[in-house]
Amino acid sequence: MSVDRSTTFTGIHFENPFLLSSAPPTESESNITRAFEAGWGGVVTKTIGLHPVVNVYGAKAKFMRTTPDDANVSMKKRPGAALHSSWNWELISDKTLEWWAPRIRRIKEAFPNKVLIASIMAGSGNDRELRHWQELAETAQGEGADGLELNFSCPHMDRRDMGSNIGKDQGLCSVVTEAVKEVAKVPVWTKLTPATQDMVVEAAACFRGGADAIVSSNTFPSLPVIDPETLEFEINVDGLVSSGGLGGPAILPLALAKMAQLTKAFPDKNFSGIGGVSDFNQAASYFLLGCGTVQVCTAAMLDSAVGPNVIKRLNAGLDAFLENHADKWSSVEDFRGARRDRVVAQSAIRRPEGDAYDGGYEVEGYAAQLSS
Ligand SMILES: Cc1cc2nc3c(=O)[nH]c(=O)nc-3n(C[C@H](O)[C@H](O)[C@H](O)COP(=O)(O)O)c2cc1C
Repeated sequence: MSVDRSTTFTGIHFENPFLLSSAPPTESESNITRAFEAGWGGVVTKTIGLHPVVNVYGAKAKFMRTTPDDANVSMKKRPGAALHSSWNWELISDKTLEWWAPRIRRIKEAFPNKVLIASIMAGSGNDRELRHWQELAETAQGEGADGLELNFSCPHMDRRDMGSNIGKDQGLCSVVTEAVKEVAKVPVWTKLTPATQDMVVEAAACFRGGADAIVSSNTFPSLPVIDPETLEFEINVDGLVSSGGLGGPAILPLALAKMAQLTKAFPDKNFSGIGGVSDFNQAASYFLLGCGTVQVCTAAMLDSAVGPNVIKRLNAGLDAFLENHADKWSSVEDFRGARRDRVVAQSAIRRPEGDAYDGGYEVEGYAAQLSS
């Protein structure tokens, strides 16, 4: 039986609802070409800006792994260790807008039915920077980009008026979104930082500015661990480190919590979910909470740089899911948000009564020891 993976999100038609997120997998024309050939429905380009970008010495991203016997989390490679997370302090694309423009055009000409979203970023706080946002938006859409993703979320910027510093300020979220919407002819998504008190506030500000969708999560602010033997951070330059971003499996539950807050606050709006997705099992949670598309970074980086096996697993998982639920659902749109209402306040969760109360120590080994 053939199923229909296609979906329409913010007015854009996707052959499947899976995108590579803005990150190394989408930093070049050759990567994006390989990604489309592998089957991704869309890509969000590595974030494009107008200011010069120079990354730090050495590795921009590394992977943390954990060992089953001692739950040790480390960047050191050990046999039998499983992926825990990615850690990065990579800035936005170090290629210019002039470099990107012809490439966006060529990619769209070669793949007219695939979706290319241009991720863009400029500063804030004055009209000149707002014009930079508009210039980036106009160029990208002029070259054929199907949509724009405004990066209000990079957690480690070398400028204070950019990235998550915009995403932490509801006034800036509104003003920048509105400035881009003034010139945009294509849908505008805003990618928010999860590192705020209440993302609902910034999401509301973006919607006030005219955003067509909210994208979440970018990486979470984090530090690598200190090696107890060398007393050095596992990644450092001249012994120094700065806050970077955590992605991959470790952030899945955190990103789901953020997404649930957003989709519950704005059940009629559009959301694209990111964080810890490597196959359909995780993607399903995002759809069931109300997302219309799902994006992937870390898992793809570890799979031939653009995730050919990841997209195969995502598509196969979606097919199997739709076949299993063929009696009630025939597309992503049909089950989008089907479990959103299951997230409630603690006070709304049922409690045992009288003798049935066991202190909640039912789970795993630790319970037996505590209650004896
Ligand atoms: C090395 C690296 C570079 C990234 N660069 C960007 C970027 O330029 N723009 C952006 O919006 N997000 C960037 N991200 C964040 C990812 O797009 C994504 O939101 C995050 O990694 C969480 O997804 P994951 O758990 O699938 O990795 C980057 C992530 C990594 C690991």
